[in-house]
Amino acid sequence: MKFKIYRYDGEEEDYDTYEVPHEEGQTILDALFYVQENLDDSLSFRYSCRGAVCGSCAMLIDKVPRLACRTQVEKVKEQKSELEHYKALDQGEKLSEDQILVEPLPHLEVEKDLIVDMEKFYENYEKIEPYLKSEKEPEKEHRMDSETVNELEEYTNCILCAACFGSCPVNGEDEDYFGPAALAKLYRFHIDPRDSEDRLELADEENGWWACDFYTNCKKVCPKDVPPNFSIGKARQELKEEKDDED
Ligand code: SF4
Ligand code: FES
Repeated sequence: MKFKIYRYDGEEEDYDTYEVPHEEGQTILDALFYVQENLDDSLSFRYSCRGAVCGSCAMLIDKVPRLACRTQVEKVKEQKSELEHYKALDQGEKLSEDQILVEPLPHLEVEKDLIVDMEKFYENYEKIEPYLKSEKEPEKEHRMDSETVNELEEYTNCILCAACFGSCPVNGEDEDYFGPAALAKLYRFHIDPRDSEDRLELADEENGWWACDFYTNCKKVCPKDVPPNFSIGKARQELKEEKDDED
């Protein structure tokens, strides 16, 4: 299989094409290793766990943000992009049936080749103070019903890969938008019965809950099925109801 891979050395950008022998079950990350070990040792990419846990290998594969370690080469062409209002589809190289296009995650600055600077993503994430703030002291343990546990789990599965950030048209226009992952995590603390602060107000601003245009690209690309769009809709509804009650 041919791979067309984005290259950037800090000065010039380009695409290089490599032929990688196919093996059953081969992932995009395996193919990148093949290139690095056999064809071009200057190719740079980020990875750690190789098992869809650390979130460090998110990149744009055939114009869809995906984890390189979890995406099988033979499945790439089966999963077509369903992303809306997505500028990456018209930028860079065009898609082609006989090769796989690998590019860095959009909406973050490229450091080298497929490695992006995650600082903006984490800056936005820190705004929501992503840790439990509990002043409640139970006599024994905190007790939670199974419905709440199940709802919380939808959000705690996030691995901070930033695929949603790189798929969101609003983040593409405004890097200060909190972004889907941060908002989903904020909602996760809001619904946690152990937390004792008013969490929704932390994103009750133009760049927070209210900036989302509900393209739902975040939900479509999330490798862990986190539904940021759903949490944003619920948070807005609750805030509107609070404001109506005050009027
Ligand atoms: S919500 Fe999903 S896509 Fe976004 S950072 Fe978390 S795991 Fe990645
Ligand atoms: S290498 Fe850890 S998620 Fe892919």
